[in-house]
Amino acid sequence: MAPLLYFATAHPERIAGLAFGVRGRGVRELLPDVDLAVEEENGETAQDRLQHRWRPGVGILACGPEPMLRGIARRYGDNPDTYVSLEARIGCGFGACQGCSIETSTGMQRICREGPLFACSEVPWLR
Ligand code: FES
Repeated sequence: MAPLLYFATAHPERIAGLAFGVRGRGVRELLPDVDLAVEEENGETAQDRLQHRWRPGVGILACGPEPMLRGIARRYGDNPDTYVSLEARIGCGFGACQGCSIETSTGMQRICREGPLFACSEVPWLR
């Protein structure tokens, strides 16, 4: 959440909205000023918020656990401006070991070098 909050603060003109979700309510104490969907409170997830707030023509930048990213890719992957931030175990962190490589529509790419942000259209295995 930290880089997304930073980006939203630094470039508010580029943000149509934020949809943050967490499982436990304890996070509220850590982030009292952030509008959170707290699954433990009412079952609402970040994906639920996104579904209610997103409108065609608006890009999506998603960061979170892979099941959530898969759900977003399935629902919004046809939107050309849907991006996912992927994670992998990082070995070297500068592109030498290939340990973070993933298959994309244009071949193998390293999350630490070419990523971590990929267009959903580049990672069809997410859907
Ligand atoms: S962590 Fe080594 S290439 Fe990405």
